[in-house]
Amino acid sequence: MEVVRTIAELRQHTSRWRIAGQTIGLIPTMGALHNGHLSLIKLAQGKCDRVIATIFVNPRQFLPNEDFEEYPRNEESDIQKLIEMGVDLLFAPKAPEMYQPDASTTVVISKLTDCLCATSRPGFFDGVGTVVTKLLIQALPDLAIFGEKDYQQLLVIKRLTRDLDIPVEIIGAPTIREADGLAVSSRNVFLSQPNRETASKVFEILKKTATAIALGNDVLAACKEARTELILAGFSGIDYFEARHSETLELIQNFENSGRLFAAVWLGPTRLIDNLEIKEYRD
Ligand code: PAF
Repeated sequence: MEVVRTIAELRQHTSRWRIAGQTIGLIPTMGALHNGHLSLIKLAQGKCDRVIATIFVNPRQFLPNEDFEEYPRNEESDIQKLIEMGVDLLFAPKAPEMYQPDASTTVVISKLTDCLCATSRPGFFDGVGTVVTKLLIQALPDLAIFGEKDYQQLLVIKRLTRDLDIPVEIIGAPTIREADGLAVSSRNVFLSQPNRETASKVFEILKKTATAIALGNDVLAACKEARTELILAGFSGIDYFEARHSETLELIQNFENSGRLFAAVWLGPTRLIDNLEIKEYRD
């Protein structure tokens, strides 16, 4: 696997592959690769002739008070994982390659961004929209895959590629979970041992609430109860725990066969997000 740092080198590979009639899948990441990322790569390998992974900790999607400096970075071990997976190319640019000092363009997505993470992390989706648009234009892949754990991000990226006529298929891939249900995430390494145990309660409460709503319980009351249970379980804060439409992200008051629960919670300094389709879960 070759590692390239510049857009010019990336394009040398992609043009060669396109001339040879090969299809290309792109997996954008911020590194600190885990089983969730590896599942996206596997999915892309089943669909495309060539798979490119990108690693770029995008400064534009962190608020000034957020963990940009602390965000886990481990390129050597990431490269090893990508080689073992048989990825064809890693594009790992440095910040100046992605953003000129006088860069003046931001991709702003106006719908789907008036709720959930857009409210608790203002500007986050401008950063994501801008970097993902750039990566897609740089690599011009046939498809790009994003995890459903960041469900709002997935919808935003689908919308921006549609609106900007970027000729790429955006595919969502199921959330990968630890044995106890915690959604895998690069930020899980920040959890202390006791917090790691509490963290799995998010999935438990999501499942319980989804089942209650699917069985006819009042939506708003079920979400309110879930928020109380999260606090009792030891979470230090809740950005949101809400039921929303799976495509429009509008709040749901009455469940009519389709919808999703969305949660963003804090355990000390660590913010966890998760979401789950509303249906009956038995286990
Ligand atoms: O989900 C992520 O890791 C990032 O938001 C993404 C899509 C790679 C953009 O920086």
